[in-house]
Order: sequence, then structure tokens, then C-alpha cells
Amino acid sequence: MLNWDEFHKEDGETVARATNAGHANEANMDRLDSAGGAAAQEARAVTANDSAAIIRAKAALDSLDVAEGLAELEGASARVAVDEKMMINCRADLNQLVPFKYDWAWQKYLDGCANHWMPQEVNMTADIAVWRDPEGLTDDERRIVMRNLGFFSTADSLVANNLVLAVYRLITNPECRQYILRQAFEEAIHTHAYQYCIESLGMDEGEIFNMYHEIPSVAKKAAWGLKYTRSISDPKFETGTVDTDKELLRNLIAYYCVLEGIFFYCGFTQILSMGRRNKMTGVAEQFQYILRDESMHLNFGIDVINQIKIENPHLWDAGMKEEASQMILQGTQLEIEYARDTMPRGVLGMNAAMMEDYLKFIANRRLSQIGLKEEYPGTTNPFPWMSEIMDLKKEKNFFETRVIEYQTGGALSWD
Ligand SMILES: [Fe+2]
Ligand SMILES: [Fe+2]
Repeated sequence: MLNWDEFHKEDGETVARATNAGHANEANMDRLDSAGGAAAQEARAVTANDSAAIIRAKAALDSLDVAEGLAELEGASARVAVDEKMMINCRADLNQLVPFKYDWAWQKYLDGCANHWMPQEVNMTADIAVWRDPEGLTDDERRIVMRNLGFFSTADSLVANNLVLAVYRLITNPECRQYILRQAFEEAIHTHAYQYCIESLGMDEGEIFNMYHEIPSVAKKAAWGLKYTRSISDPKFETGTVDTDKELLRNLIAYYCVLEGIFFYCGFTQILSMGRRNKMTGVAEQFQYILRDESMHLNFGIDVINQIKIENPHLWDAGMKEEASQMILQGTQLEIEYARDTMPRGVLGMNAAMMEDYLKFIANRRLSQIGLKEEYPGTTNPFPWMSEIMDLKKEKNFFETRVIEYQTGGALSWD
């Protein structure tokens, strides 16, 4: 079994840690030239069998400037010490995954891989029958399915785009980037799951996918999130000043605490409540797996935000705390509006007032998770079964539509 502690042991002969990056680069290039020169020359010698194209390729490599190629990489070129690693504005080489500084990020990457699932594994037959049957669902229940597929089918794309086009390059830690890559793939699976539901049920795809432009309660949530992507997704945006570091922090709070941490919760609760009543169990099962992924995304984001605060306490001043609290309260308000729009009347044993209580309970959690004061004192959770679903292991299906045996790379043991 691989033991990660090995990576923390220093071998005095081989680990000569250069202190000056430029210096190390030059020394490294000399070593590469002298060590690899003879073997490379031999391998690259033109032979009688070589075609003109192969001769051209070999000649091109003769003039390859290794120093120039490596100099373009992010971070210094020396071997990385764990205490050089930082969440933002790190100067160490970002291509060296180990030694780990944030074990929790690597563990979440492993856990995410062990929870791998695909939308096609879920049987949608019963849902198709219920959806086609005019008596299968009430108008209020149909509204809930349509609105939520409308919101989620584009919301996960917004999250994925924010991750890969904005956040990824600004988080300067390889184990966190490894998790972000896993998360980005999970967001692709989620969008795939919504597309799979929409296609299975024979819905009007244009109507659902364009809902974030057409339905106000959906559009407002999307627009609120996009506002926080605009500046940091500019390729010229760089962190490194108090203002730009705060801008990144705002984006992380907007996406992890509000979009993934609040905006998803009314819809998840509604669809899962439907599944608990034995309606649309395939769609509900898809949402169950998505919710489990999302709760890990949220926890990762909270850990990243809190680590940035620890490493950069000057960013977390009174103004930033007030702003963060306001963002969470605005998000809660938008989600309450969404609850009212999706549930004009009581449905599935819930109503907008109960959902409002639940969202305030969730908002209190988000505030306290990043060290802020709870703003809805005395609120309790009217849907405790939601926590039960989130904590389920992959191999247990809440709706008991099937038994799943799973073991993926992340869970294999070599002992
Ligand atoms: Fe997602
Ligand atoms: Fe997510």
C-alpha cells in the first residue's frame, strides 16, 4: 500500500533544496544536458530507414529550448516544501502534487472518486409512465418538476464554467486543483443527469434550457451568481492585492456558500420529497446522487474559504464580514422567492412557509460555517430527512429502487 508519509521524508543526498529559483533553473538545465545528452543524441541519430518527415521531426527537437519551456510554468522550479504551499498567491511549483499540505482536499478528491456514478445507471421507466399519464401528477407537482429541471439544467453549467474559467487558475494549490478537476467533472455529470431526465420525459428542451432567461425566479438566481464571475473570469484578472484577493473570496462565497449551498436546496427538497412519496423515483434518485456530490462541493468550498482566511487574516476585516453576511442573506431571500414561485399552494406535504424555515435554517449553517453570526435565531429544521439522505453511502439507495454494488479506484485496497 502506498504510504503518503514517505513523501515527507527527506533524503539528504537527493533532496538538495535550492533557495533561489533562477539559480536552480540554470543548474537543473546543465544537469539535464550532461545526463541526457549522449543517450538523446544516440536515439536521435538519423538512420537509413528514416523518412523525410521523421528527419524533420528529429531536427526540430535538436533546437528545442528546454529552459524556455520550463520557465513558462507557474511557480518556482525547486522541489517543493510543504510550508511553501498556499491557497492563493503561492510561489511554489504547482505541478508537484505532493507533499500535501491540505490533506482534507486530497481526501475529498478520493471520496468524490469513490462516489462516482452515471445518470444512465438510473432506471427512468416508472417516471416516463407517470409523466405521460394525465392523472400521474397534479399540476402543482408538474410545475415543481419543470421549474427545477429548468433551474438546475443551466445552474450546474454556471458552476462548472466559474470553476474552470475563473477559480481554477487562481487557487494556487495542486491538491485543491485536483479536487476542483473532480468537481468540474461531477458538474458535467449533473448537467448530463438533467439532460437525461428531460430527454427521457420527452420535455420541450428549448423551454427547459432557456428557463433561466424566461422565468423571473430562475433568472434572478442565475444573474445573481453571474455577477460574481464577471471580473475574475477576465483572463487579465490576477490576485495579489487586497482588492483582487477579496474579489476572489467574494466569488468563492457566492458560488460555494450561496449557489451550491442555498440555491440548490429548495429544488432538492421538493424533488426528493416527491421521491419519498413514490413519485418520479428515477428523477429523485438522480437528485439524491447530485445532492451527495453537492454537499461535498459545499464542504470543500467552506474549507477553502476558511483556509484563505487563516492564511490572509487581513482580508477578513469588518467590511468583508458584513459583505459576506449580506451575500448569504440576499441568496436566502432569492431562494425564498423561488420557493413561493414553485409552490403557490401546499404540495407534497410541504408549503412555502415550511421551505422558508428550512432555508433560514440552512442560511444559519452557512453563516456559522464561515465564522459569521447566525441571522435567523431559533430556526429549526422542518425536513430532518434531508440530512439523512445526504449522509447515505453510495451503495445505499434512499428510494430502494435497486441495490448498487460499487468499488472504484479510490476505494481499492492493495493489502
Ligand atoms: Fe452540480
Ligand atoms: Fe456542485
